[in-house]
Formats: sequence, C-alpha cells, structure tokens
Amino acid sequence: MNGIIELEEVTKVYHTKDTPEITALNKVNLTVKEGEFLSVCGVSGSGKSTLLHLIGCLDKPTDGTVRINGESTSLMSEKELAGMRNSKVSIVLQDFGLIPGRTVYDNLVVPFYFSSNRKDMRKKIETALEFTGISELSRRPVIKLSGGQKQRVAIARAIVNDNPILLADEPTGQLDIQTKKQIIELFQRLNQNGKTIVMVTHDKEMAEGASRIVKIADGRIIES
Ligand SMILES: Nc1ncnc2c1ncn2[C@@H]1O[C@H](COP(=O)(O)OP(=O)(O)OP(=O)(O)O)[C@@H](O)[C@H]1O
Ligand SMILES: [Mg+2]
Repeated sequence: MNGIIELEEVTKVYHTKDTPEITALNKVNLTVKEGEFLSVCGVSGSGKSTLLHLIGCLDKPTDGTVRINGESTSLMSEKELAGMRNSKVSIVLQDFGLIPGRTVYDNLVVPFYFSSNRKDMRKKIETALEFTGISELSRRPVIKLSGGQKQRVAIARAIVNDNPILLADEPTGQLDIQTKKQIIELFQRLNQNGKTIVMVTHDKEMAEGASRIVKIADGRIIES
C-alpha cells in the first residue's frame, strides 16, 4: 500500500433529470500518504467537493477506484461505507451539515449514534470542544451561533471520534483573516498529532498552510 488515500483513474458522472450528464471528475489519479496535509484548489464547479465526497465515503465513483487504507469503496454496501465514516474518515462539509435546533454538545453526540464505541464519549466531546476553542458554547443551540462558530462546531464534530483521516471542504469559507489563521493553525496541530488531512479551498493563503497543494480544473488534476 502506497498511500492512506489512493485514487486510480477516478471518474464521477452525475445524471440529473433536466440537464445533460455532468462529468465532475475525469480520470483523476491521486495518492495521499499517511500524515500528509494536502490542499486542493480550484475554481467553483471544478470538482473539489465531488472529490472530497468520494474520499469521504459519502459517494462512490462511476469508474475507477478509490482506496482508503488499502480498501476499495466501489463494492462496499451502505453499511460498510458508514463503517468507514465511523472509523477511518471524517468530513467537514461545505455547508456544515449541523442540526440547527440542537445544542453544540448534541451535535457532537451524533457521530456516536452510529458507533459501537461509545466509551469515554463525554470526555472525547469535551476534548474536541477544547481543541477547537468552543467549550463555552457547548449548551448553545447551533442556530444561535455565528458563521465562524458553526465552522468550529463542524470541525469539532469531525475530530470527536479521532479518525485518522480528516477532510474539510472550504473550512474557512466566509471567515475573517484572524479566524482563518486560527483554523489553519488548528489543522496544522491536528496534522502534527498524526492526522492525514485533505482540505479544499479557494484561498491561496489557506492552501499554503498545507504541506502539498494540488490544483483541479474541469474535473482533472492539473498540477501537483
Ligand atoms: N449532486 C449533483 N448532481 C448533479 N450535478 C452535480 C452534483 N454535485 C455537483 N454537481 C456538478 O458537478 C460539478 C462539480 O461540482 P463540485 O460541487 O464538485 O464543485 P466544487 O469545485 O466543489 O465547486 P464550489 O467551489 O462551488 O464548491 C459541477 O458542475 C456541479 O454542478
Ligand atoms: Mg464545493
């Protein structure tokens, strides 16, 4: 096994009712080594989120192979994919995907619903909140948080079960420079603690916080 994440000739085609098919990824090859911090740059619509969703086991390729820890996702059942999301790979979604009416704490309980390992849940949640600097927001409903605070909750939720791979889709989307810096430092700390990170961003400064940058255009990796 060469990389903790391996993509071989990965193509993703979306079929929708009213539009022609869209080839969001076109024969993408990519290897991410264990412990790497990779950023993926590209303009809107270039296929960044699609790439992350495939690596995050939220979706499967139309063609080609996505391997996480040496295991191909193509033939996995929904249950097996969910198992990967429980134990191998976590994702901070572009729109956060938080439950707005529930508290920060309750949102961090969510990953444990699907996990057989609920040992030390409270402790793990407290650690994730501390790490992201939002301990004092624990009892607040998500709907009452600022954009930057929600971003941190989404990150806290993605690190709470300590999966070895962390994926983040535009984790600093609408943040000010100060908060952006804090988030990138947070990622660097996680990376130093051994996490493999793939971060999608438009932001050149953010991208430069990673150890390697790849560029994607029209569903193809154009520069690595
Ligand atoms: N669920 C879907 N159904 C149909 N087409 C989709 C779907 N998701 C994405 N696409 C299309 O696939 C292409 C790549 O989309 P993707 O979301 O991966 O881009 P992106 O690089 O993340 O863009 P952005 O920077 O705006 O988030 C786009 O043309 C988009 O319209
Ligand atoms: Mg996107």
